[in-house]
Amino acid sequence: MTVTREAVIEKLSTIKGPDFKDDIVSLGMVSEIFIADGKVFFSITVPAERAEELEPLREAAERAVKSIPGVTNALVALTAERQGGMGEAPRSRPQPAPRPAPQSSRPAGPAAGTIPPKAEIHGVRWIIAVASGKGGVGKSTTAVNLAIALRALGQKVGILDADIYGPSMQKLLGVKEKPVTTDGRTMQPIEAWGVKAMSMGFLVEEDTPMVWRGPMVMSALRQMLRDVEWAPLDVLVVDMPPGTGDAQLTMAQQVPLAGAVIVSTPQDLALIDARKGINMFRKVEVPILGVVENMSYFIAPDTGKRYDIFGHGGAKAEAERIGVPFLGGVPLTMDVREKSDAGTPVVAVDPDGAQARVYREIAEKVLAQLKAQAGAGGGPRIVFE
Ligand SMILES: Nc1ncnc2c1ncn2[C@@H]1O[C@H](COP(=O)(O)OP(=O)(O)OP(=O)(O)O)[C@@H](O)[C@H]1O
Ligand SMILES: [Mg+2]
Repeated sequence: MTVTREAVIEKLSTIKGPDFKDDIVSLGMVSEIFIADGKVFFSITVPAERAEELEPLREAAERAVKSIPGVTNALVALTAERQGGMGEAPRSRPQPAPRPAPQSSRPAGPAAGTIPPKAEIHGVRWIIAVASGKGGVGKSTTAVNLAIALRALGQKVGILDADIYGPSMQKLLGVKEKPVTTDGRTMQPIEAWGVKAMSMGFLVEEDTPMVWRGPMVMSALRQMLRDVEWAPLDVLVVDMPPGTGDAQLTMAQQVPLAGAVIVSTPQDLALIDARKGINMFRKVEVPILGVVENMSYFIAPDTGKRYDIFGHGGAKAEAERIGVPFLGGVPLTMDVREKSDAGTPVVAVDPDGAQARVYREIAEKVLAQLKAQAGAGGGPRIVFE
């Protein structure tokens, strides 16, 4: 049975727009409709500031279209009209969406999404988040090298770039190709350095400004999690967006995380940024696998001499004080920086080097914890008050 545009439009004409009077088709909110193989793709244009509250509208449209005979799947995205000041470069991130007023807020619990929160990802054993309280501390670099180190330990590994405002996996992994879909619904991850990877950066051009609002962020993440052929994987490493705002919290709530690795620079813990990250995961009962102190000390490129110029050890002491494992300190080296920038992760291209050893030790500790946790019945290993 072939699906026609007319049938889709007719169905969408039954859906009321935000004013509850006119339908979304006559309001001109529906984009061009693409139909391929029974799969229907289109977007609904909404004002950026109302994107969050209009997520149910997106879901309703998707459901309606899926109910048309012959439609095997539908992918509906909300697109926001660009507003003055929002056409930012990918690296600059909008502020976290303001908390909705209590009367208008949808419950953050199981009713919040179409997919039950924490539903397992089929064929993926452990999903771990790499996070920090603030940006630029080396989360993405840590995530990539940890992933490749886990792979060197014999694990099947994937890496998901959850930083959809400023994706970096295309750069860090040196990925140039675009993911392909075999069935029109699911995407094949890109294979790089022996790990499977998915990033918004593989899908959009480098300079495309990305304007996302809360619900769009969630649906993008949901798709990158659930509509990508990750399986079979032992570990899926999620490079989290920086910060501890609502988007991060929702992510932590909705993704079945086996644990979180917190990246900090030595100064941060003193400044309690990393603690914010730790507290966020604690709030949603995600075990903290430990803290990585990145840019822990400096190794001079010419002499190889080590300098503790950053108050090295601060993270270790603080981790012990707040009762989370310390996973290791990664030195600040030109090697890490240059190899990251060149898309050739240090663990992959210099597996016998000092940096690779550090990342491998971190990976060993992470894996040991995941295994211990699984052995203990899969529940959180660390119990919080
Ligand atoms: N140990 C290290 N030694 C040298 N440079 C490093 C190290 N770790 C990270 N960097 C560099 O620091 C910069 C920031 O790192 P990265 O992008 O991994 O941080 P991030 O926390 O993911 O940042 P963002 O918050 O923007 O996502 C990059 O240029 C990276 O190459
Ligand atoms: Mg990053």
